Amino acid sequence: MNEKNDILIVGGGAIGLSIAIDLKLRGANVTVLSRDFGASAGNAAAGMLAPQAEAIAPGPMLDLCLKSRSLYPDWIDKLEDLTGSQTGYWPCGILAPVYPETLETTQNQANSANSANSAAPDTPAYWLDRATIHQYQQGLGDDIVGGYWYPEDGQVDNRALSRTLRIAAQELGVELRDGIVVEAFQQRQGRVVSLRTNAGDLSAAHYILATGAWSNQLLPIPVYPKKGQMFSVRVPVPQSPFEDETNQANYGHRLPLLPLNELPLQRVLYGPGTYIVPRRDGRIIIGATSENVGFTAGNTANEMQQLLARATRLYPPLGDYPIQEFWWGFRPGTPDELPILGPSHCENLTLATGHYRNGILLAPVTAALIGDWVINQKADPLLAHFHWQRFVTAAQPVSPNPIPVTKIYPTVSDQSADSFNHNSPAEVSNSSDVNSMINLPATAVSAKPANSKLLEALDPEPLVIAGRKFRSRLFTGTGKYRNIKEMQDSIAASQCQIVTVAVRRVQTNAAGHEGLAEAIDWNQIWMLPNTAGCQTADEAIRVARLGREMAKLLGQEDNNFIKLEVIPDSKYLLPDPIGTLQAAEQLVKEGFAVLPYINADPLLAKRLEEVGCATVMPLGSPIGSGQGIKTAANIEIIIDTVKVPVVVDAGIGVPSEAAMAMEMGADAVLINSAIAMARNPAAMGRAMALAVEAGRLAYCAGRIPVQAIASASSPLTGTITS
Ligand code: GLY
Repeated sequence: MNEKNDILIVGGGAIGLSIAIDLKLRGANVTVLSRDFGASAGNAAAGMLAPQAEAIAPGPMLDLCLKSRSLYPDWIDKLEDLTGSQTGYWPCGILAPVYPETLETTQNQANSANSANSAAPDTPAYWLDRATIHQYQQGLGDDIVGGYWYPEDGQVDNRALSRTLRIAAQELGVELRDGIVVEAFQQRQGRVVSLRTNAGDLSAAHYILATGAWSNQLLPIPVYPKKGQMFSVRVPVPQSPFEDETNQANYGHRLPLLPLNELPLQRVLYGPGTYIVPRRDGRIIIGATSENVGFTAGNTANEMQQLLARATRLYPPLGDYPIQEFWWGFRPGTPDELPILGPSHCENLTLATGHYRNGILLAPVTAALIGDWVINQKADPLLAHFHWQRFVTAAQPVSPNPIPVTKIYPTVSDQSADSFNHNSPAEVSNSSDVNSMINLPATAVSAKPANSKLLEALDPEPLVIAGRKFRSRLFTGTGKYRNIKEMQDSIAASQCQIVTVAVRRVQTNAAGHEGLAEAIDWNQIWMLPNTAGCQTADEAIRVARLGREMAKLLGQEDNNFIKLEVIPDSKYLLPDPIGTLQAAEQLVKEGFAVLPYINADPLLAKRLEEVGCATVMPLGSPIGSGQGIKTAANIEIIIDTVKVPVVVDAGIGVPSEAAMAMEMGADAVLINSAIAMARNPAAMGRAMALAVEAGRLAYCAGRIPVQAIASASSPLTGTITS
């Protein structure tokens, strides 16, 4: 360990800096690494402290938000005292007007808000009728028929806060390193050993991930960017402080405060689809869109037009105020919109990310809870609700054998022979599904299946890849299924032991890839992460590293397999031989077992074997084309010339083609589309498995030579002739 760094925090946004300050105050040596301190969601936000206006449902999240809101006054005092800098904290209350079309639902909410008021005095909420709300706040849209008043909600100037947090961290002696790109958490046996960065490897006793919307570029946790577009206007007062100093808009704390009576708005307005946040210096911040567009930068006319319309409907005077700035940012969203806080899969890595719409609000409580956890190993009971594992334990997983015997022919493989199995031998061999299927009476099926012992006697050699043994020689995938259930059924029916998963699709939660982690029993199925979607060697290398993390997160600590795909062409999906070779060389150096997808090029296959690849995976015909084995002649040369396993990948459409590949001497086949897109994927999965076994046994058995003339089945010698 580098003694100077007790703790390395990755991410220099409001969350990372708040944690750094808390830890430093508890006596730790802390370094914060940031790619760009200015890019965080906290800089782009409006700074609302709005657990009630945001209508967070009662439960642990609301408890967390209310706790954080209650920490705010003291936390701000401490920061401002320490730095002499102002944060613009203003517990101004939030008014949430409603329109006629939402009156009914909001009246119901008003009733519960009022009852919550009597039940929870620290979260008062008042319903204001039409006359009262217009009297209370001049200038509201005419069609507003009432609204809530949340006196305990408020705001902070998020940019001023971010700046203050930086100053506080610096003054306390936290090392802030800007321009550091962390490329990977390097792990061994459940611990992070170092961070690989553009400034070399960095190590510490403990690590904290606080990279917000960018979190799943480092770890495969489900945090996704939710873009928000915003703008600001300024109050048109005479002698505006902005006239010569528009740039200072970025530094609200430097602008003089206006007398309260010169501010047309003295509280936040929170309306449907928009909010309006007046600052004490005369700026008014208006937000925000919520878009699933990845990291697409920029303000767009359509979205801004809608936002402007919503804001001016809520508060029409805005329409005459000069616009000051447009901007956008990326909230770190999670599937359940709750943050990910606390322990991770590595004992010395703590997670503090996914704060979605509430990062600024949650900064103090996050810092306090994470500080307590890291320094004192004290887990506040609230933390349990925000554990990352909630995303991997929910569903009933599929293991290779749960298909009802009435639907599918019984198995011919013995899963307990797997060398990779993570369960104890007892757990595996006790699988009643396996036993019941293997021991089925012959009458239950149309043809008596070989049992696993017989199969092993006939073909004693397992498939060995990078030292791991597999009985099944059929790899399947997870793409293109109509639904998760069909995927589960077909994986089970195929009895495959290796399933390839597109890292990018899991990362982006692409259709059909939500819940994949839970849908498959990764104690039984060996994950083969793949780099599908990567067009260059560099991209593939980066995604491969994420794939390794993904497998680790799912409990396959020692899984270093990567199916390497570098595919620049989207029409034929043909792999780039040069990019593949470059990426393979690098990944082999990094300790990966590389399984490259290639055109059926014998020379390339040889080169890939020479650089240390664990297999080669030549294509039969283009991916998903179902054209069968069009490259048979070259595949035969590859089989003849390389010693690593040859896995025929892509193009197989029907079981006879799978059998053909195996009869040629391929060591395995990978089939996805032909199974996933079949009318009955489970039946096709089973059919492919049988074909692979048949082809393999035929190869082992040795075919008869092809002859030009007939050779009678019954010997002619000894026949009785007249
Ligand atoms: N908390 C406001 C927003 O995320 O837009």
